[in-house]
Amino acid sequence: MDITSLAHCAFETPDVARLTDHYETVVGLHVAHRDADGTTYMAVNGGAPAIVLHPGARARLRHVALELAPGATAMDAAARLERSGVAATIAADAAPGVVAQVDFEDVGGHAVRLVEPAARGAHHGDRPVGSGPGIAPEKLGHVARRVTDPADVCSFYEDVLGFRVSDWIGDYFVFLRCGPEHHVVNFVRSPSAPALDHLAFQVHDVAHLTRACDVLASHGVPLIWGPGRHGAGHNLYVYYRNPDDQIVELFCDLDVMLDERVGAFEPRPWHEDRPQRPKVWDPEVGANQWGLGVPAEMLR
Ligand SMILES: [Fe+2]
Repeated sequence: MDITSLAHCAFETPDVARLTDHYETVVGLHVAHRDADGTTYMAVNGGAPAIVLHPGARARLRHVALELAPGATAMDAAARLERSGVAATIAADAAPGVVAQVDFEDVGGHAVRLVEPAARGAHHGDRPVGSGPGIAPEKLGHVARRVTDPADVCSFYEDVLGFRVSDWIGDYFVFLRCGPEHHVVNFVRSPSAPALDHLAFQVHDVAHLTRACDVLASHGVPLIWGPGRHGAGHNLYVYYRNPDDQIVELFCDLDVMLDERVGAFEPRPWHEDRPQRPKVWDPEVGANQWGLGVPAEMLR
């Protein structure tokens, strides 16, 4: 399977208007499209929808959409999934900006959608990075999900979907890449699985991250963790909860592996190893290079 990136995350929410207002006013996304039933597609700076909000009885992650590589079709993807013993459905109601899509459930019990995009390489408008309103992130960066067996889910993403392992923290948290970025999906063992752990928007740099914290403060949104620098991935981070009580991360400085043949991440002055290769981290160091430890608020 040839997957290039995270396309979007779709949620159900009991209050589409409230969550739309949050993502517009605080995060700085804009409404790209609205269906008759109220489903709202929200984009980052003129790009394809990154967040989709469906009306629903309770707040929950509905699916995670991954973008197929140029030349890879939803039809081929469905056939490959079937050959791997995974039941897949070609969805008829292709979303805005999507040519075709295929739906299936991963072994962690999470709904996944593979999409053939209508356009590529046109994912940003002309608004300067970090310009308002709101935080104005660069893009949706990754989605972390809670699972009962991260090793099993990891094998599925490697063997069936073609992801590569970037790091493990202990035996309970795995980070996977499908392109140069350290992770676009990650999976943590949790008794509340299957569930969303957090979604994450990429900001440009530490100045943008600081401004994002100011924006959150101006809207009365408290941080629940950070700022700090993770060990695994080495991203600078802050976390807060959105109006649906879901954890949202803002990050920058994520490790990148520009050439898979090299097998190491691009050198950075804060790396512990030289070169910094995928590895299994000690839980203490993997969670945090600096900053306060994981608060209980992150684990509920
Ligand atoms: Fe994250």
